[in-house]
Amino acid sequence: MLCLGIETSCDETGLALVEDGRLVHSVLASQADIHSLFGGVVPELASREHYRYIGPLFDELLKQSGVDCQKIDYVCAARGPGLLGSLLVGVAFAKALALGLNKPFLGINHLHAHILVTGLCDKLEWPFLGLLTSGGHTCLYRVEAPGKFVILGNCLDDAAGEAFDKIGKFLGMPYPAGKLIDEFARAGDASNIEFPRPYLDNDNLDFSFSGLKTAAAQYVDKEYGEGIWFARAQKNPAERKKLGDFCAAFNEAVAETLCIKTKRAIKRNRDVRALVVAGGVAANSMLRAKMATLGEKYGLALQCPKPALCTDNGIMIAQAGYLLAREGFCHGLEMETIPRGRRMPDDMKAPQNISA
Ligand code: KG4
Ligand code: ZN
Repeated sequence: MLCLGIETSCDETGLALVEDGRLVHSVLASQADIHSLFGGVVPELASREHYRYIGPLFDELLKQSGVDCQKIDYVCAARGPGLLGSLLVGVAFAKALALGLNKPFLGINHLHAHILVTGLCDKLEWPFLGLLTSGGHTCLYRVEAPGKFVILGNCLDDAAGEAFDKIGKFLGMPYPAGKLIDEFARAGDASNIEFPRPYLDNDNLDFSFSGLKTAAAQYVDKEYGEGIWFARAQKNPAERKKLGDFCAAFNEAVAETLCIKTKRAIKRNRDVRALVVAGGVAANSMLRAKMATLGEKYGLALQCPKPALCTDNGIMIAQAGYLLAREGFCHGLEMETIPRGRRMPDDMKAPQNISA
């Protein structure tokens, strides 16, 4: 079964073809440079850029892969959560294509796709525990099947990736800053600064990173003021070393907080067969190392997508689409697109129930 996946939920336009759980080809256009000028994603600009890129990218995907579009069996697109205008570009394109090719259409939960793309490299064994940690979300799931995600914990305010990006902005780093903070942290010593491990003194599996973000921002403000430390570190080795220590301490606080709640979830779900950590922040080297140690302690293999598949891409939509299509799920063309903050409806249908 050949599935086309289209991702346009934020600032990456990604398209991919996955055949029977194997990647055929993918294309990606990132808008990071444009949004970097504003220090974060500008929704109106994002949807315009998706609209500009999506047609040429689809042509490029077919040309580079040598696939005839009539051979596509399923057309899948991220339906949410995300920026509504951006999502609508991908969903409208996918619906039109499905209609034109007379093929089934499937709207994909972007968050679930982050987790399910892990199955492209590793065999998924159900049930497993899934931590999604990205720019917009931090969620813990018990995953029982491709279409059965039980939410165990959610993010109450800033997501882990958002905290990385906001602190990066405070340091004067380009957006998104997670990867750069990760690089500085590798050369730093986390023990020189103590940041809080936030929102642990409770009995739940939810996350809150806004307090940690404030603590780290106040530290930067006191030491250097806003927006200059990164530039100074480029010129001065002593300030570079100090920035490494700061990044290591901040990175460690985020990674340990994620690990502590994940450990709590493992203890409450002892029948899970693996620990999957996915989403943009799962590319973080310190988080991966700490999660591997945690999994080992509980006899669980840690499965993470390779770093290039942690951030948004079309492959995750095509792979999630394949896993769901294999079970017979699809949507009618009346399917709604779901912006961030709205509950995702559980409205997938078996193909025979689709009305024309
Ligand atoms: O999953 P993603 O592409 O977008 C959302 O769906 O939100 O995640 C992007 C986030 C950004 O906040 C970025 O700073 C963060 O992932 N990120 C990282 C790393 N690479 C990307 N955070 C920490 N360490 C990294 N190596
Ligand atoms: Zn994402």
